[in-house]
Amino acid sequence: MASGNGSNFEALVEACRSGLLKATVGMLVVNNRDCGALRRAERLTIPCRLIDHRDHPKRPSLDRALITTFREAAVDLVVMAGWVRIIAPVLLEAFPDRVVNIHPSLLPNFRGVDAVGQALAAGVRISGCTAHLVSEEVDAGPILVQAAVPVMASDTSSSLAARIHAQEHRILPLAVRLAAERLHHG
Ligand code: GRF
Repeated sequence: MASGNGSNFEALVEACRSGLLKATVGMLVVNNRDCGALRRAERLTIPCRLIDHRDHPKRPSLDRALITTFREAAVDLVVMAGWVRIIAPVLLEAFPDRVVNIHPSLLPNFRGVDAVGQALAAGVRISGCTAHLVSEEVDAGPILVQAAVPVMASDTSSSLAARIHAQEHRILPLAVRLAAERLHHG
């Protein structure tokens, strides 16, 4: 699931294609026709489905559409790779312990929007990213993998975000593997 640029989505596809991750990205779901993720899916020849939140004014309705789509595609795991909508409990109930999210901070610090800006404003010297299982609380849930990066005095939001992004691309495939192993071992 992606709403924006889609670099994490592409990193997952590459990890699967290189054999680093023994999985297949069966489909991409986007909520926005103009997002970069959609163009990446076309280039990577991954089936893509647009589920526009504007067609679903009530949140559970959007989540029911997502559930139907994922069930039809028989997916085992769902990855929120830059999905900007909050998901409803109904989706988590349909895919318990099967929804992974990536967030650009060392959770539990700096939840919510503009985590990179929050870290800069707080003056932390180390930030990073977290891949975690999704729970009902936003940017919470069991942590699967984290990576830390230094925050430089000269950093802007975009330079720090770029450093964090590079680590996201590294840890997200690891987190998917851990989530799958966790399910396998009960
Ligand atoms: C990432 O920073 C991720 O942590 C956050 O959304 C951003 C998505 O980036 N949830 P991209 O679209 O994968 O490039």
